Amino acid sequence: MKFVVDQQVEDIEMPENLKLNTFLQEFHTTCPHPECSFGYYGFAFGQSPFPVPPLVQVALIENANKGAYAPVPGIPELRNAISKYNRHYFGMDVAPERIYVGPGTKELIFNLLEILHGTVILPTPAWLGYLPQIRFLKKNFHMLPARANKKISPGDLKKLALRLQDRQKILILNNPHNPTGLLYDKFELEEIAYVCREQNIIIISDEIYAQTTYDFLKFVSMSKIYPEGTFVTNGLSKSHAAGGYRLGYVIFPQYATDLKNQFKKILATEYTAVSTPIQHAAVAGFEISKEIDDYFDVTRKIHHLMGEYTYHALSSIDGVKMTKPDATFYLLADFNAFRDDLRRSNITTSQKLSESLIVHPYHTAIVGGDSLVLERTDFSARIAYVDYDGAKVYQNYLNNKPKSSSERIEFVKNNAPKIVAGIEMIGKFFEDLKKEPLRDLEIQKSLMVPSS
Ligand SMILES: Cc1ncc(COP(=O)(O)O)c(C=O)c1O
Repeated sequence: MKFVVDQQVEDIEMPENLKLNTFLQEFHTTCPHPECSFGYYGFAFGQSPFPVPPLVQVALIENANKGAYAPVPGIPELRNAISKYNRHYFGMDVAPERIYVGPGTKELIFNLLEILHGTVILPTPAWLGYLPQIRFLKKNFHMLPARANKKISPGDLKKLALRLQDRQKILILNNPHNPTGLLYDKFELEEIAYVCREQNIIIISDEIYAQTTYDFLKFVSMSKIYPEGTFVTNGLSKSHAAGGYRLGYVIFPQYATDLKNQFKKILATEYTAVSTPIQHAAVAGFEISKEIDDYFDVTRKIHHLMGEYTYHALSSIDGVKMTKPDATFYLLADFNAFRDDLRRSNITTSQKLSESLIVHPYHTAIVGGDSLVLERTDFSARIAYVDYDGAKVYQNYLNNKPKSSSERIEFVKNNAPKIVAGIEMIGKFFEDLKKEPLRDLEIQKSLMVPSS
């Protein structure tokens, strides 16, 4: 039987994160070197390594018997808990009626893009999830490249908005930011909000990494600055290391009653509601408790330690530039200073750079610039610093909190040896490149993933 796939779907590209997955799996099965069995230094995957907070796990087990469908916007207990959570942590006064729960923020962002009219403004570099959705929905969109500081320039935003004919525009703001790890401060948000008010731009503010902000009090939600035009998305995935639970929420702007009804129609049509036991488990995750508060505090501090180490270790490789993360578990490394060396080895695109780093003898997985909505020839890469055993490291941190800067370095060396060795490997790769062009490795050819 030959099945015919709808043309609209045929035209969609595989999202970059799945392409990467496929690539790494293929690498494992086809690499002939014994060393390949060790795996690779994993700087590619954006997943928190910690266990789901035990309180949440217990709540999931206790609610396994809840087999009834939940209300479309979410169970009242959860919407209430999320409302209180936002007041407690982010100082936001959000009535539960403004909160809709969905199966992950990725889906909710997709649903928002479905119902909101207007051209999308996508600042770059960007998380690899947005662009396939925008393309799938066939929305008009424009990139807004970051300035040298890797942030949105309000002046550039205004210039772009003035060129767009739509009466409504949609800015996707991701704060704190994947892949740079940077945080927008209150003043920067105010400047962006000023342009948005003036130019009729609404904002989808993806704040999934808010809870990871190292100096937590510095985080400010855009909805406090631009409450009438901001849709905030957040969820369990990063703060509670529970991406697999698939639970996110959106906070609607004030006075958006009609829009909420339209949104409800979409959710009811597409997925009815999030799994009921998962929603009950999420209540435990969002309710204010010492256990969860300690969990946020410890995980945030460990992300900070790893980020600090990664930043400093990469900066010791001559020529590499990188963002200094304020949050998340990523930074953006810029290898463009090696452009000539790379070209001599026939590495002409960021995809080729990722492929060359993953093969023997380097075994290092990164996310190349083209997956971050940068030019194909921009040799930037996202470096995720999460390749360690989260449960063990969490416990070790509690047992022996590093204080001085030398203790902090020691902690990373003892607890995340793959991060330490992986960064050394990146250094070795660029050193080797300088010495002589890399041989066009056989395995490399056999491993090539189609770039389309
Ligand atoms: C910036 C950003 N937004 C959204 C998501 C997806 O989150 P969720 O698991 O809630 O769909 C991710 C996951 O990597 C992300 O990095």
